[in-house]
Amino acid sequence: MIEVGVVGGTGYTGKELLRLITKHPKFELSFATSRGSEETKISQIHPNLSGFIDDEFISPSSDLDADLVFTAVPHTKGMEYIPKIREKGIKAIDLSADYRLSVEAFEEYYSTKHTDPGREAVYGLTEYNREEIEKADFVANPGCFPTGALLSVLPLLDSDFDLDYFLFDSKTGVSGAGAKPTQTTHYPNVNDEVSAYNLVSHRHNAEIKKILEQHNLPDFGFTPHIIPMVRGIETTAHLITKQKFKIDELFELYSSFYNNSSFVRIKKQEPKIKSVRGTNYVDLGGFGIEDSRTVILSTIDNLVKGAAGQAIQNANLMFDLDEELGLKEPGLSP
Ligand SMILES: NC(=O)c1ccc[n+]([C@@H]2O[C@H](COP(=O)([O-])OP(=O)(O)OC[C@H]3O[C@@H](n4cnc5c(N)ncnc54)[C@H](OP(=O)(O)O)[C@@H]3O)[C@@H](O)[C@H]2O)c1
Repeated sequence: MIEVGVVGGTGYTGKELLRLITKHPKFELSFATSRGSEETKISQIHPNLSGFIDDEFISPSSDLDADLVFTAVPHTKGMEYIPKIREKGIKAIDLSADYRLSVEAFEEYYSTKHTDPGREAVYGLTEYNREEIEKADFVANPGCFPTGALLSVLPLLDSDFDLDYFLFDSKTGVSGAGAKPTQTTHYPNVNDEVSAYNLVSHRHNAEIKKILEQHNLPDFGFTPHIIPMVRGIETTAHLITKQKFKIDELFELYSSFYNNSSFVRIKKQEPKIKSVRGTNYVDLGGFGIEDSRTVILSTIDNLVKGAAGQAIQNANLMFDLDEELGLKEPGLSP
């Protein structure tokens, strides 16, 4: 078995990693950390894991040992742990934003100094970087919004279409904000409400920009909204083009681009969040076409394909395993 550890095991993505590790046929939990709940049973903090995990949390300052460590901690905390983990020769996947961008872009968008500037990670958007991830010992797992947005336009990278502008309009469930309650996530503030935030300046812009720029793709806008839902992100991607797309041509392009990506399902009807909830799937569809505007929708579970599931998919590749291992299951619907 391959021993895997989780730094940040009490948070939402850490908890989801633990759930996925218990089902994985080749991964075995080596440790999960907590600063406030060390020596407490993991299943006491996460009752959904009762009967599956008997271990206790350990302190993140313990001697962390495993074949691979996931760091599921807030930004600026990934770079506190990654240097020690990597210096021991342990493979790592960081779920925070710390290694997704260049040092300059990180410092600009996150307004803080990078404390581990020399270290390079492979960007872990699996369907974009599969071959690099297979060779990698260290992966920066993507943000949840960039995963949904980028997968909705990846087939257009390096295509011959004349593209003018992309507009990503995303709705997310509240778990995207992490486990700690805040005014933003407080029930009376979230329920019966749609709350747009960071209208033109969300930090995830930097990640989307980095990938689009590498392929000379057009400028884009991105606006996120929180809606009264626990899990899931629906992204409505408006593609402004110089010519009118033909639906069959576009559908064929998307289907063939994702031909070897079994977690991407292409459909002509509008995808639903409930079809992907609890899964590593990305459903892409809609394909509404009106003159110079084409609308493509993507749905993901932010905690699975947007975080823990994609991290497990990447870990599978890093150990030369089938990328689907431990991840293939239908969505929790309704
Ligand atoms: N939520 C999502 O949908 C999502 C999607 C993609 C990526 N991400 C990214 O994934 C990371 C984790 O997100 P999350 O939603 O799971 O956050 P979270 O629910 O707030 O959990 C954060 C975890 O980090 C631990 N932690 C905090 N500060 C720490 C420190 N200094 N040293 C060690 N552990 C520390 C906390 O545990 P203790 O307090 O018990 O130590 C907790 O387990 C973030 O960087 C986030 O941006 C989140």
